[in-house]
Amino acid sequence: MSETTLMVCALCRFSAQERSRNGVSGGQYLIDQLRQELASRSLQDVVNLQPLRCMAGCHQPCNVSVAAPGKLTFILSSVDPATAAAQVSDFCQQYTAIPDGRVPYGDRATAIRRATAFVLPPLPTP
Ligand code: FES
Repeated sequence: MSETTLMVCALCRFSAQERSRNGVSGGQYLIDQLRQELASRSLQDVVNLQPLRCMAGCHQPCNVSVAAPGKLTFILSSVDPATAAAQVSDFCQQYTAIPDGRVPYGDRATAIRRATAFVLPPLPTP
């Protein structure tokens, strides 16, 4: 059963100057790369990759969120779709291994540190 959800905006641009490459949006390109990277780490059944249509952060593409029940939620912005899939997948691997999702700052890849826009506490459980 998959607990971690990796939400990625499929509509995000590659950059402010570049909407798409060969007809593929930056977000969709990132999603395609993430599928490969997650599979290469045998995480395809552990991390639920969920494409979304706009996360209201269109001015800072690409936008990504990592969340799970009882864990911190990480919201990442300005994730480079051309280069960041491996680091995001590594971060998901770290996140799934830690009970509260609090991946130590020093253990996060530079791309993840730079892209972290918000960290939210776990939602209260009933
Ligand atoms: S298009 Fe990606 S956040 Fe709006």
